[in-house]
Amino acid sequence: MRKILVTSALPYANGPLHLGHIIEAVQTDIWVRLQKMLGHDCLYVCAEDAHGTPIMIRAQIEGVTPEALIARVAAEHARDYAGFLVEHDQFHSTHSPENRKHANAMYASLRDAGHITRRPVRQAYDESAGMFLPDRYVKGGCPRCGAADQYGDSCENCGATYSPSDLVNPVSTVSGSVPVWRESDHLFFRLGAFEEMLRDWLATDALQPGVRAKLAEWFDAGLKDWDISRDHPYFGFEIPGEPGKYFYVWFDAPIGYLASFTALCRRTGRSFEEYLRPDSRAELYHFIGKDISYFHTLFWPAVLAGAGMRKPTAVYVHGFLTVNGQKMSKSRGTFITARRYLDHLPAEPLRYYFAAKLGPDLDDIDLNLDDLVARVNSDIVGKLVNIASRCAGFVARAGGVLADRLPDPVLYEELAGARGRIAALFDARDYAAAIREVMLLADRANQYVDHHKPWALAKDPARAGEALAIATQGVNLFRVLMTWLAPVLPGIAQDAGRFLGVPLDRWDAIATPLLGVRINEFRPLATRLDRKQIEAMLAAEAPATPAPARPAAAKATAAPTQAATMHADIKDFTKLDLRVAKITGAAAVDGSDKLLRLDLDLGGEHRTVFSGIRAAYEPAQLTGRLVLMVANLAPRKMRFGVSEGMVLCASGDDDAQGLYLLSPDSGATPGMKVT
Ligand code: MSP
Ligand code: ZN
Repeated sequence: MRKILVTSALPYANGPLHLGHIIEAVQTDIWVRLQKMLGHDCLYVCAEDAHGTPIMIRAQIEGVTPEALIARVAAEHARDYAGFLVEHDQFHSTHSPENRKHANAMYASLRDAGHITRRPVRQAYDESAGMFLPDRYVKGGCPRCGAADQYGDSCENCGATYSPSDLVNPVSTVSGSVPVWRESDHLFFRLGAFEEMLRDWLATDALQPGVRAKLAEWFDAGLKDWDISRDHPYFGFEIPGEPGKYFYVWFDAPIGYLASFTALCRRTGRSFEEYLRPDSRAELYHFIGKDISYFHTLFWPAVLAGAGMRKPTAVYVHGFLTVNGQKMSKSRGTFITARRYLDHLPAEPLRYYFAAKLGPDLDDIDLNLDDLVARVNSDIVGKLVNIASRCAGFVARAGGVLADRLPDPVLYEELAGARGRIAALFDARDYAAAIREVMLLADRANQYVDHHKPWALAKDPARAGEALAIATQGVNLFRVLMTWLAPVLPGIAQDAGRFLGVPLDRWDAIATPLLGVRINEFRPLATRLDRKQIEAMLAAEAPATPAPARPAAAKATAAPTQAATMHADIKDFTKLDLRVAKITGAAAVDGSDKLLRLDLDLGGEHRTVFSGIRAAYEPAQLTGRLVLMVANLAPRKMRFGVSEGMVLCASGDDDAQGLYLLSPDSGATPGMKVT
């Protein structure tokens, strides 16, 4: 039995999964399910990629700890993967004790073997935020074409690449201030030392031709040392013996594969060593998108080898998902999150559609939404499920028991005998070819039923036996086809298994037909998609931040919701002057059953604010308590007076869940800035 460990790339824990993530997870999940059906011992692990500057900043914007942010996002991711029937054997996090242990140990091996070097790096530094700025957090004018508001690494207008210090009038996107340039020591992994090993690895069939070509280019350009440290403040693991320095997120991210596997080993009593030691006979596969090839085909094998571990058996790289021929775009409404899709459409049609389009190479994959509807209705409903629904009635009429022999064993063998070929296509990740083949054979099955017309035979009581025989043949052909699609359509396959009275979980079970056994009542296995569902999905506004699980279902009732949406620029956030304020007086407002009048102390300055919290608080409870307020809202004239700001509350989606004033932890004082 082959022992196989499979991963897909770890999604960043700062935002929702979108259909680009889903196509990767589905590609991997199909492959893993196939291996399991073939009887191999195959494990699929993944994790949250929880470290790095974007997560740190996002947490600041949301006013939560990074730990709270990644826990919330992990729960959303888990729910979305489950919604698409993606089944991990272990789902873990890079912010875990297992990962810290591996990262420290692997770093120590690299360091002790002389693979780590140290040298100063000059980097943009934001003095008001007190942090070094990754290139993407500096914006300014393009040094080549002059386009304004370009990122610090490249220009979206002319395509120039440069470093942030080349920008004209650079600003920090974290605080809006002008960055300064500061030097600090960074640690580098000396990749060049692994060139020979990598060239040998390249010569094996571990990589697709398209990836090899890319790699050859990188070799020609010369393998550069890789900067693996970042300075405080950084959300990650502090490097042992290097106070104030942290592992760069991309150093401990792939190590997260091992951390997740370690958690699985602990839970199931497997041996980590058996899979990771250099002479391991277990297989290790990474499914990734083409944008992260460099990390997986150069750094990662080198880090593994440097740490005395085995290399991946293969890295499988896929292309990018486009929607209706274009890059997913928020402004065109084609940035489709997993949740938004699942709110309007069932998962399996999309799994099928992706499979029908995925090949073994790096070509981009287009999701054409009209094509999705047409394809699913014609293939799954019209061809596949149709075979079962056309035949089931004749079996039911005969008491639910299949005939005890096939009228056309040659045809059965023609289909069932293709199982090796179809498995090979799936195994080679040519899902598109596998699906084409399955659908051609589905046509054969339908032609068989069309030709023998069991419905005509059934009209003549004397020929009911013949009708049952034809239906038995049809049901068996359906079983064969459905077995092959089980990795793609696991839910439908499960329901089909219930109908057939046998699970469709082993590839070779179809070597023998089902004869003389009772099957169950047929219930519809799939429904037609309606173009209207697509329209509804496209019309639905993409949820800003996916509704967090309660009780964190807190959303500020004031303007900050705006700033806390997924798509806000940090600059939007910095426009708000958020302050700690002390309630010095609170009173009901005559003539209003909603409002309280609050007197606020902002550290010397006084404000009056009308706040709609009367239903939730007794005025007397409030005096003396600290709250958070938006201090720079334009004063608003109300019927009862002028409101000079707004206090922040958490609330649920409906009023019934109540309102909850937000307060700083003890120690904060009036007037403090909320950052
Ligand atoms: N966190 C890193 C991966 C670390 S792996 C040790 C990362 N995360 S990601 O969330 O940006 O992307 C996760 C995976 O989704 C990557 O393999 C990436 O290529 C893939 N995709 C992201 N957008 C995609 C499409 N539009 N289409 C297909 N795959 C895409 O990178
Ligand atoms: Zn430019």
